[in-house]
Amino acid sequence: MRKQIAAANWKMNLTFHQGEKLLDNILKADIKMNPHQYTVFAVPFPYLLMTRSEVEEEANYYVAAQNCHHKKNGAYTGEVSAEMLHSLAVSYCIVGHSERREYFGETNAMLAEKINLCLQYFVTPIFCCGEPLAIRESGTQNQFVEAQLKESLFHLPAETMKDIVIAYEPIWAIGTGKTATTQQAQEMHAFIRSKLAGQYGPQLSEEISILYGGSVKANNAGELFACPDVDGGLVGGASLQADDFIQIMRALK
Ligand code: 13P
Repeated sequence: MRKQIAAANWKMNLTFHQGEKLLDNILKADIKMNPHQYTVFAVPFPYLLMTRSEVEEEANYYVAAQNCHHKKNGAYTGEVSAEMLHSLAVSYCIVGHSERREYFGETNAMLAEKINLCLQYFVTPIFCCGEPLAIRESGTQNQFVEAQLKESLFHLPAETMKDIVIAYEPIWAIGTGKTATTQQAQEMHAFIRSKLAGQYGPQLSEEISILYGGSVKANNAGELFACPDVDGGLVGGASLQADDFIQIMRALK
């Protein structure tokens, strides 16, 4: 079975102490992941080491960065490289979140560079794609997402593509409380998988985890994750409450 992943994206929330407490409360629930199930905490950079040491005893619990820079190293004050993440044994990195694209001008081409660097340094990218509301309303969301995949991922050879995790996050559903319906999520996930199959063959496409993100909550995670092509979620707001995130972890297939 493909990896099923409950990924928390804390974004720019919580103090260090609050973050520690949240992790403690989640870990206290002692939820055992099945071998194909993973929990990932994407935390602010200064909390990476603390989070790593909190989860390192737990099977299939991992830490992620929320971003990395698109250049290898150098005079980029304030930035963090994929190599630095690797040096901290950080397992995952979110690449191309819509908030990064929108507020920090990240382009598909820059994201391709980030993807390459993550893979070079054995950090698994969680590549985010997804359309804004106007695109959804015009009915061109498939073309929009296809271009994101092509321009940031499809240069990869199959050997490295298999290590990518994709997160479909329709922008109109992020932080709005407006979730995609299970039908909308499944349709897009199946479309993404069909594009992966076209580029890399059906076998590889079946191995890649595609997460859904956008107002995943304790009360809708079960039905979303039950969709055949939805392999878990990338969760913002609801990952900041232990009880909610625990229920989301429990909803994994
Ligand atoms: P919300 O769950 O708060 O809608 O955020 C989704 C998201 O952006 C996760 O990366």
